[in-house]
Amino acid sequence: MHTGEEHRRDVREREERERNERHDDGERHDGGGERPTMTIVPHGPYVVRGKVRIVEDAIVPAADGTHLEYDRVREIETKDDEEVALCRCGHSCHTPFCDGTHAKVGFDGTETASRAPYAERADEYEGPLVDLDDDNRCAYARMCHQAHGDVWTLTEEGNTVPLEDEAIAGAWNCPTGRLVSMNAHTREVYEQHFEPTIVLLEDIQEGDSGPIFAAGHIRLVGADGKPYEDRNRYAVCRCGSSENEPFCDAMHINVQFRDASPAWAGAIGSTDPLFDYHPHA
Ligand code: FES
Repeated sequence: MHTGEEHRRDVREREERERNERHDDGERHDGGGERPTMTIVPHGPYVVRGKVRIVEDAIVPAADGTHLEYDRVREIETKDDEEVALCRCGHSCHTPFCDGTHAKVGFDGTETASRAPYAERADEYEGPLVDLDDDNRCAYARMCHQAHGDVWTLTEEGNTVPLEDEAIAGAWNCPTGRLVSMNAHTREVYEQHFEPTIVLLEDIQEGDSGPIFAAGHIRLVGADGKPYEDRNRYAVCRCGSSENEPFCDAMHINVQFRDASPAWAGAIGSTDPLFDYHPHA
């Protein structure tokens, strides 16, 4: 059993190790170039710079009906290195892009979210095969619900490889990065590798448009010019109503935010290959 302090030290050391590995990896594969960045404009949009794909995915039931998955709706064409401004206020007439409406509606985009590191904010759940960290930032994407239970139950009670598989898949497909699953014995973190991708979510069951899911260590820089903590996954608000700006807090459901996605006319393709639902396959 780990004490709280041992756990926090483990997490800090693990994150430092991962940062160093990413640095090495970046130097090998892209000449040490900068990671793509999302910069918050004061009371305005997110400005995206660098090599990053922008796609739109629908949250829909998987074919076997046991869990939800991301299905690709479309890829949004952008030119390499072109700056793109994504709407944050929820009022643009040209979603997902900013059209300047934020100024007309007097959007207040004040960032109120804690800047404390994930390791300090997260609670720990322990299990026989995997442990789980959880910082409670929820976008209501419901990936944490799997065929044989939710991620917390699967973590604490799952004692077979298939149940462990579900615990990991439910954690690592959560868009907010709220849930981080790790090997209970070695403390190795289970995270998918993503090429930097911005995923605009459409929640078909709930009938609303969800957050911007940033996958693959995209740098997030606040309106004050200070970067947020480096995360592999996080979800930022695009309905303009979050009470934890810039992060999504599922308020898009309360305000029934819906963008102009072709998903609402049925243009939904098949499972997005960006995501893995079978960690041990
Ligand atoms: S942030 Fe500019 S129109 Fe929404």
